[in-house]
Amino acid sequence: MKDLKDKKILLIIGGGIAAYKSLELIRFLKKRGSDVEVILTNSGRKFVTELSASQISENEVHTDLFNHKSELKMGHINLSRNADFIIVAPATANFISRLSHGMADDLATATLLASNKPIIIVPAMNPQMWNNPATQKNLLDIKRFGIYVCGPAIGETACGESGMGRMEEPETIIDFVIECFSKKNRLKDKKAFVTAGPTIEPIDPVRYISNNSSGKQGYAIAHSLAKHGAQTTLISGPSFEEVPQGVNLIKVKTAMEMLEVVKSKSPADIGVFTAAVVDWKVKEYQKNKIKKNGKNSKLDLVENISVIQSVVNNNKLKPKLSIGFAAETENIYENAKKKLLKNDVDWLLANNVSENQAVFNGDYNNIILFDRSGSEKWKRMPKIEIADKLVTRICEYFQ
Ligand SMILES: Cc1cc2nc3c(=O)[nH]c(=O)nc-3n(C[C@H](O)[C@H](O)[C@H](O)COP(=O)(O)O)c2cc1C
Repeated sequence: MKDLKDKKILLIIGGGIAAYKSLELIRFLKKRGSDVEVILTNSGRKFVTELSASQISENEVHTDLFNHKSELKMGHINLSRNADFIIVAPATANFISRLSHGMADDLATATLLASNKPIIIVPAMNPQMWNNPATQKNLLDIKRFGIYVCGPAIGETACGESGMGRMEEPETIIDFVIECFSKKNRLKDKKAFVTAGPTIEPIDPVRYISNNSSGKQGYAIAHSLAKHGAQTTLISGPSFEEVPQGVNLIKVKTAMEMLEVVKSKSPADIGVFTAAVVDWKVKEYQKNKIKKNGKNSKLDLVENISVIQSVVNNNKLKPKLSIGFAAETENIYENAKKKLLKNDVDWLLANNVSENQAVFNGDYNNIILFDRSGSEKWKRMPKIEIADKLVTRICEYFQ
């Protein structure tokens, strides 16, 4: 989407002091040729009036879930069906919390829960409210649902405190919306696969060797690739993560199974190897459960195949852009450089998974990106944001 002409936009105005800016947002959207319908939450009505919103939007303003007239036509369903997308501005801390918990206790939240359209939220709140771990957790959850978040900006907020929490200006919101929708096609026609999660290597019918990988980083990258229009296959070992929207998930157990699926999807345009493939397996699998015998036992281990090595060092299978991950607990720079030399990947993302970093199974990651020309340390970020940052870089690579 290059412009907003003839777009139908549903704007939800929440109960924050920045609600006055949303009236200006309506004006700007209308100037661009959009048709804007407004829902005012009960708290939103305390900050701006229905009269102002309806005068500026030139449409009826919706406030009540239990309106017998509009609900004759299932108003709370149709409001989202009739829109191309939905903006929530200002999105208060309370609203984000209700959204993250799937509440549907007023017209705005019921409409969003029943929505099949892209949703963009524009947070605005006091910096302490923004930094509160509860708000940050709720934000991560809604991002995981595929909701776009615009801002907030840093600066002085209406309460007189400074910090992160200021609502973005209407022009910035409009640029963000256009950018969001142009993203959708940036990787159109590109085929991508992402390996994720741990693998497991059986010892006997009841035991196996595995590791602590949760799959969160790989699932987030697959989600982001799909959001940018890539045909994405996620090849995952055992993981409890939800299947991201628009992604073709293939579940595997062992490294060998993972390799076979990767081969069947190769050569791809983009190959991202985040899976923590188990490094060793038992030399000989025991068909029957190994019994205790009152003595110490030893497992005879052999090195497992390397999925990444088998693919990127083979010209027939190598993706056009190959990206590896290296989980390290020490000597990160040296070990990552060694892995980069051993595997013909374009980029290698090393992450520090030592115990004090809480990376495995956590929502945050610490990345150092290596390519042939050097390295770049990224600040500690949620895995979802790392995924988006990486995919933005992938888009730039292909442009
Ligand atoms: C004067 C005033 C200003 C407020 N400003 C904000 C704000 O900027 N951001 C916010 O998250 N909550 C703010 N609140 C609190 C919200 O209004 C309150 O949490 C409300 O329940 C949010 O309703 P909603 O979920 O419909 O947005 C403010 C409250 C008052 C009284």
